[in-house]
Amino acid sequence: MWDTSLGDLIFSKQYLQITTTVPSTSVYGFGEHEHPSFKHNMNFVNYGMFSRDQPPTTFANLYGVHPFYMCIESDSNTHGILLLNSNAQDITLSPNPSLTFRTIGGILDFYVFLGPTSENVVQQYTEAIGRPHFPSYWSLGFQLSRYGYVSLDVVKKTVDRMRQYGIPYDVQYGDIDYMERNLDFTYDKENYAGLPEYIQQLKKDGMHYVIILDPFLSKDEAPGTYRPYELGQEMGIWVNNSDGVTLAVGKVWPPGDSVFPDYTNPRTADWWIQMCVEFKTVLDYDGLWIDMNEPANFGTGQYPGCALNDLNYPPYIPRITDYSLAQKTLCPDSKTYLGDHYNTHSLFGWSQTPPTFIAVQKATGKRAFVLSRSTFVGSGKYAGHWLGDNYSRWKDMHMSIIGMLEFNLFGIPYIGADICGFLLGTTYELCLRWMQLGSFYPFSRNHNGEGQTEQDPAVFGAEFAEISRSTLLIRYTLLPYLYTLFFDSHVHGNTVVRGLMHEFTSDHQTHGIDTAFLWGPAFMIAPVLQEMFLKDAIYSNKGIVDFGRRKKKNHDRETDIEWLPTCGQSC
Ligand code: NOJ
Repeated sequence: MWDTSLGDLIFSKQYLQITTTVPSTSVYGFGEHEHPSFKHNMNFVNYGMFSRDQPPTTFANLYGVHPFYMCIESDSNTHGILLLNSNAQDITLSPNPSLTFRTIGGILDFYVFLGPTSENVVQQYTEAIGRPHFPSYWSLGFQLSRYGYVSLDVVKKTVDRMRQYGIPYDVQYGDIDYMERNLDFTYDKENYAGLPEYIQQLKKDGMHYVIILDPFLSKDEAPGTYRPYELGQEMGIWVNNSDGVTLAVGKVWPPGDSVFPDYTNPRTADWWIQMCVEFKTVLDYDGLWIDMNEPANFGTGQYPGCALNDLNYPPYIPRITDYSLAQKTLCPDSKTYLGDHYNTHSLFGWSQTPPTFIAVQKATGKRAFVLSRSTFVGSGKYAGHWLGDNYSRWKDMHMSIIGMLEFNLFGIPYIGADICGFLLGTTYELCLRWMQLGSFYPFSRNHNGEGQTEQDPAVFGAEFAEISRSTLLIRYTLLPYLYTLFFDSHVHGNTVVRGLMHEFTSDHQTHGIDTAFLWGPAFMIAPVLQEMFLKDAIYSNKGIVDFGRRKKKNHDRETDIEWLPTCGQSC
């Protein structure tokens, strides 16, 4: 299970390395990445772990960090191992089979979970890191979102057509376009005039409304006009530059420049809870969606860039995108309450989650709904997760199953991908198949990117709506079962969605199956993941203008991209 005789242990200040053999090649986990397969390829593959605002790209380090893996031994006994370390790190999977852990700080703090079944491993793991929260029943319903509805009128039209076709639907979202100029704790009184009243209307109709919040606040609003920033200033809650005194200033969505709340500081938690609770009286939200909390910043480090020192440019940089610890985020030598950003970077989203959970609990008086983009070990106690800015491609449907299975190992079973894809335009057939698959995501939400053609299940007409409706009705019929699985997960730590190998471990063929999955022990979903060229929408800038059959030979879109697992960044 754990034999480190293969290589030397290296333990220095900014470079720690240890290698262990593993007793079989049935190895799962490590995150967050887009893995080409659930069961890992052990042929010298490298994965970096460092939270990053990064649309899913095979082998890249994505939004969260989970240095946890599970291994099914040849006699079917299963164990799990966690390296509890928040520094930038990477893992190499080699054919011995063996694993090499490399991290650039902290200590080698390993936890071993002896199983012997896969479910036992996850139960033991979540006993150690915190059991998943118990989601509200309503949050198991179908959810609809998009970035860039642009106005409340468009939201209303979308909601109306969903109703017209009787598509089961429980939650509507407000992405950043509900805000005034992308400012947290505001709403756009022109394009979204009447939003508070409309939320009340939705609630009367039995629906719920979730709003997005970002972890950066504009510092450039006119004095006396933006209380969230001014109160934050008074309370001294922001991430600082390396001097520990001046504020780290970056550029993200809001106009002007932004500062970043340091959620590892208890004062920041107080400020955030107060802001979220107060805002509930403006917009009567039911849950909070916390985005961009890697933390994301559009530049490489804050202004004026990162100084040349060992924290910003350490001697070894793990296999992360562009080998940069500062790209799209803050400089590693920034100061947080818990210490250097170098050590706490990947904890940013994790540290935002408990205060958000408390805020929603306080504001609503009910079990909290929190959806977080960045996660770390233990985040499932306070939040669910979606798999980020995926693409409207067939491959991404398959990848979403792998991601969903992995997050169940990580103790975050409230998980799903953006149904129909976020980036790129979707098609009739892809979106329909994705609605069928997504009807069985534990977190079932169709979410679309800015500027993309509409893709809610009512926009494609009667036939599409009827098929989506019938699949979603299967979900709704089974909700008591799904809810019971979440209860089990909350109390005993079980997975909700699991790979077939959890239940049929001695059948080694199940170890590599990742195109189908189980809800608990008793219900298998095997979705269609390939295009059959049945029927497609032909789009114009104004939306769908025709439905027709496409010929395969004319087919030249993104979906055709050949994608083969390779040896990754190591070759
Ligand atoms: C990035 C998120 O991943 C995406 O879901 C969201 O729509 C945009 N930010 C805009 O808020």
